[in-house]
Amino acid sequence: MLIAGQVFHPERASDHLEWGWVRLEGGTITQVGKGPAPAKPDLGDDDHCIFPGFLDAHVHLPQFDSIGVAGLELLDWLEQVIFPAEARWEDPAFASDMAERATASLISFGTTGFAAYGSVHSESVREAFASIAARGVRAWFGPALMDRHAPADLCRDADRQIEALASFEPMGRVQPAVTPRFAVSCTPDLLAKAGALACAKNWPIQTHLAETRAELELIREMFDEQPYTEVYDQFGLLTPRSVLGHGIWLSEAERALLARRMSVVAHCPTANRFLEAGAMDRAGLSSAGVRLALGSDVAGGPDRSMVRVARAMIETARARGDIAPTPAQAFRQITLGNAEALGWAKSGRLAPGCEADLVIIRPTIPLHEHPDPLGALLYAWDDRWIEQVIVAGSIEYDHRR
Ligand code: GUN
Ligand code: ZN
Repeated sequence: MLIAGQVFHPERASDHLEWGWVRLEGGTITQVGKGPAPAKPDLGDDDHCIFPGFLDAHVHLPQFDSIGVAGLELLDWLEQVIFPAEARWEDPAFASDMAERATASLISFGTTGFAAYGSVHSESVREAFASIAARGVRAWFGPALMDRHAPADLCRDADRQIEALASFEPMGRVQPAVTPRFAVSCTPDLLAKAGALACAKNWPIQTHLAETRAELELIREMFDEQPYTEVYDQFGLLTPRSVLGHGIWLSEAERALLARRMSVVAHCPTANRFLEAGAMDRAGLSSAGVRLALGSDVAGGPDRSMVRVARAMIETARARGDIAPTPAQAFRQITLGNAEALGWAKSGRLAPGCEADLVIIRPTIPLHEHPDPLGALLYAWDDRWIEQVIVAGSIEYDHRR
């Protein structure tokens, strides 16, 4: 398959689009060139732009039907909105259907890879895992581990949860992830077992860290005044393959610890705004040496589009009075930046040998004379511009269908 248009190359220093073309064979990009396409393209042309598939580093699939309940603080929102929604995943058929719907929805917004949380129900998450794998996306996915501070029907015995998770296996491009929900809903025993399993299997880890002040207060009481980040470190949960959502309320010492462990903080600006959790200090974390990713955090975040999440990242930095990322840096974050954070070496770029995940758009505003085409795309972004989304070489979303 040959695709032509203005190509975004996040690995290049230039912050503009480049006329060119991309050739795919099977699930792989085999050739990339500048200038006119060597033959009549199968997709795209002069009016089109081509991006690497967008990546979402933090999202909750069981929460896709719960977007938009505003006005609650995190812990109340979890109790009143999210736990009842996640309880519906007790039914494996419902879970697998919803995972399929959520994945299709993400793909339609240009997301071709994600790190996602399931519910606590291991067997339902196993079914959902297969649904995700069938769509071809690259993903981390695992049951949200919980054994306290949640309704009884959403708490499970620690050994049972770990044993069930240990029997997961990678499928297609989906990798099991050790996913303790957050230290509030996990006993030290469960956290320790989660850390040990991740170590034994060399699996990635995802959890939440320091999102709200009320959560921080609870952690202080529950863990005897220990700093939040140290709680995770104590149980071996801070590794280079750990992605910690939010990281808003962190001390200098905690930032330094995250940097030493080479763990990743997933910035979730739309969720932080929606749940009024605070404005994350992205620039400060970055200068402390903390690796950063970006996530939609649906349903804490109401927006499924990573382009709008990237825009919120810029707006958050501006509102704080920090030097804000440029549109090119924002597009880089949701492609190559997230790929590097998640350790996905063949994602996030359009280069020979990389996985064939692409978004083909046809913007309806003229870019030719625009002084900042990527700025135009970011700020005027319209999902209706998305014509095709290609996942592992196959057209998984087509606007004509
Ligand atoms: N902290 C623990 N669980 C969650 C969740 O589902 N969403 C968000 N935003 N924060 C959490
Ligand atoms: Zn989250």
